[in-house]
Amino acid sequence: MELVIATRNKGKLREIRALLKGTRIRVLSLDDFPGCPDVIEDGKTFRENALKKARAVAGYTGKTALADDSGLSVDALDGAPGVYSARFSGPGADDLKNNRKLLRMMKDAPDSERGAEFVCVMALAGPPGAGIKEKTVKGVVRGRITREMRGPRGFGYDPLFYYSPKGMTFAEMGPEEKNKVSHRARALTKIKDIINRMQLAHP
Ligand code: IMP
Repeated sequence: MELVIATRNKGKLREIRALLKGTRIRVLSLDDFPGCPDVIEDGKTFRENALKKARAVAGYTGKTALADDSGLSVDALDGAPGVYSARFSGPGADDLKNNRKLLRMMKDAPDSERGAEFVCVMALAGPPGAGIKEKTVKGVVRGRITREMRGPRGFGYDPLFYYSPKGMTFAEMGPEEKNKVSHRARALTKIKDIINRMQLAHP
């Protein structure tokens, strides 16, 4: 079975390829379909965005597609930045500006109210008429928002995300350590089971 990963992000692609190693799935990426148009992520939920991307890529390529959408949800901010994680600080947003904005908004939050979670939703969709049922899965990892940025690694909100089982922020952990427990890894493990079952039905 062929599976197109609906991302242009090299890091995500590497993670997904590593997890699907050892299966009979032939992993393709958008590099194999350079004309595939970008999808506007205007959904209100991670699930809506992931499904929109998976459907668009399956429709364009004529193959089963896997897409994801992810972000940070902070309890004290009613789930913000959520689907706006990448553009939290407005036009020209980057990781540093987003992190600074989050720190400002959380300035007065006491330790007991600094809970947060990274969420990743993965969606699978087949091309029209292929009889492949759409599926979505969710991976979540809980942590706490620190009071300053800590650690040089990772990306996005990693320097502010304290993961207590390791006593470090995600940006202080090595990539292998992070990839064992991350929201993306958790969603991927679930989707892998679904893909394996699907392969039996649509070899
Ligand atoms: P997307 O899934 O590529 O749209 O990611 C949305 C945004 O969520 C990213 O730009 C980051 O700001 C944030 N994000 C998602 N996953 C992570 C992560 O593993 N670490 C840090 N930030 C993340």
